[in-house]
Amino acid sequence: MSVGIYCLNLVDMVMVLASNSRINSQRLWDSLEEMALIGPGVRGGCNRQTLTDADGDGRHLFKRWCEAAGMTVGVDKMGTMFATRPGTDPDALPVYVGSHLDTQPTGGKYDGVLGVLGALEVVRSMNDMGIKTKHPIVVTNWANEEGARFAPAMLASGVFAGIHTLDYAYSRKDLEGKTYGDELKRIGWVGDEEVGARKMHAYYELHIEQGPILEAEDKTIGVVTHCQGLWWLEFTLTGKEAHTGSTPMNMRVNAGLAMSRIFELVQTVAMDNQPGCVGGVGQVKFSPNSRNVLPGTVVFTVDIRSPDLTKLNAMRARIEAEAPKICDGLGVKCAVEAVGHFDPVTFTPELVTTVRNAAEKLGYSHMNVISGAGHDACWAAKVAPTTMIMCPCVDGLSHNEDEKITIDWAAAGADVLLHAVLETAEIVE
Ligand code: GLV
Ligand code: MN
Ligand code: MN
Repeated sequence: MSVGIYCLNLVDMVMVLASNSRINSQRLWDSLEEMALIGPGVRGGCNRQTLTDADGDGRHLFKRWCEAAGMTVGVDKMGTMFATRPGTDPDALPVYVGSHLDTQPTGGKYDGVLGVLGALEVVRSMNDMGIKTKHPIVVTNWANEEGARFAPAMLASGVFAGIHTLDYAYSRKDLEGKTYGDELKRIGWVGDEEVGARKMHAYYELHIEQGPILEAEDKTIGVVTHCQGLWWLEFTLTGKEAHTGSTPMNMRVNAGLAMSRIFELVQTVAMDNQPGCVGGVGQVKFSPNSRNVLPGTVVFTVDIRSPDLTKLNAMRARIEAEAPKICDGLGVKCAVEAVGHFDPVTFTPELVTTVRNAAEKLGYSHMNVISGAGHDACWAAKVAPTTMIMCPCVDGLSHNEDEKITIDWAAAGADVLLHAVLETAEIVE
């Protein structure tokens, strides 16, 4: 041991320990694998959609793990779970760390889950190392991040941030007409906490990139500076159900044809706004959805995104101006409702710097990135200093059962999360 180390006091010793510390990568990986067994998909991924029985089972497992790590779990009226590791200062606001355990219907094992279980691993590692912090740490599982079953996405964090009311959130319906409020009750996860009553010192979210840039640039850590904004526009087109064989072409009121022309419009609008803007359609409901009936009603959601608010709003305005003209020309009725939105987000510069410094200190290659996907961090940023950390995923593939990451990428992301959280939560001896 060098003379220098003999001269360290206890606080310095804690700092040396902390600066060399790493999370337990195998334990993190095993937990990711174990969670993925709940709500398994059909091709190796997951189908743990919001407020399904599988979501309930995943919540119970997560709660057991949190309690085993010495945390106390609270639940709010939206079903968001908050697991608290106390700090040493009773007046210090907590540092929140989390993401979501719900998945797409054909989702991967890591989207959201890495952020929640990575946060749990941070606490488990701190327990192993005997590290105490001034600020409590709250590992968070936000409800309904995906918006796959109940639009909009990031619903619970949106209520938490005061963007949506609880009544609005409870009234959201899935494609079968079941409401968020009824389904939350059914799976037994209506908590007693008022949504948004908690105050945050800071919020960190670790997430896979869900895009190809980090892997292509051979960087291990994405330092997330911004998140692009989004509009979800739900179109309801009304035509006339009629026989596909016997109805002459000139007598059809074809809502399906209008839909396909609007798809083309969305593509054109996005391509006219390159680089940077995207647009597409992921959900369609054709009624009656029978091979030999022209659809009477078609409901679908246009998803457009951009980091530039002016471009984002201009894309929306153009689609909303041109789509009704397409429908008019075909005799189809057109109604549009905005069912999801957030403006582009700038994350808190001080926390972004903390993340970059942590990656640097740990020797991980890194670069700045803009998140293409939406995250609960986007709403948390409205009420607290917030930022995100990203790690790569293979071929940038996500919202797909084939989503893949490596144990080393997961560990690097969680290591950076650990060090950023320790910096913000302030280690005490
Ligand atoms: C959330 O997964 C999103 O749609 O970006
Ligand atoms: Mn996600
Ligand atoms: Mn997702």
